Amino acid sequence: MRILHLDSSITGDQSVSRQLTARIVENLGRSAPATTSYRDLAKDPLPHFTFTPEAKAAHAASLEEFPSQLKAWRVIVASSRGGTYSNGAMADFDFQEAYLRTVFRFLGVTDVAFVRAEGVATGTEAKQRAIERALAHADSFGVRQAVAA
Ligand SMILES: Cc1cc2nc3c(=O)[nH]c(=O)nc-3n(C[C@H](O)[C@H](O)[C@H](O)COP(=O)(O)O)c2cc1C
Repeated sequence: MRILHLDSSITGDQSVSRQLTARIVENLGRSAPATTSYRDLAKDPLPHFTFTPEAKAAHAASLEEFPSQLKAWRVIVASSRGGTYSNGAMADFDFQEAYLRTVFRFLGVTDVAFVRAEGVATGTEAKQRAIERALAHADSFGVRQAVAA
């Protein structure tokens, strides 16, 4: 299994999502032999697109290879939210998950899962509970992968 581990949070050691991605990758690595590539997009951001003729050609060539490569991909998105959007009064304001599913589906990736810690800005205990629940969810990925393997 090849894992591309991306972190994007700007909050460093305080980051909840970084805790979640680390746990997910740890569990996936336990479930099957894995090679992991890591990129911290906060420290090492992607460059802006520069549409010189050479960049255009390289971009077109890489897009041609995209769909067949990505079909076998599974994406696990680890997110952390101050409020709660998976249910309740704020559910209509969840513009993240539907958007990400759509973008990944457009690229050919239909296996998209979300590990989310919600309500982390609603008090210390609520934050702790949310992190524990999300970490337990992250652990279940390793189990399911191991059973499936
Ligand atoms: C500038 C800023 C805007 C935020 N906006 C929202 C928001 O609209 N909804 C929400 O649920 N949480 C919001 N949050 C809270 C973050 O989602 C939360 O702190 C999360 O844990 C950040 O991820 P991290 O811990 O991995 O850095 C915001 C945080 C910051 C700093």
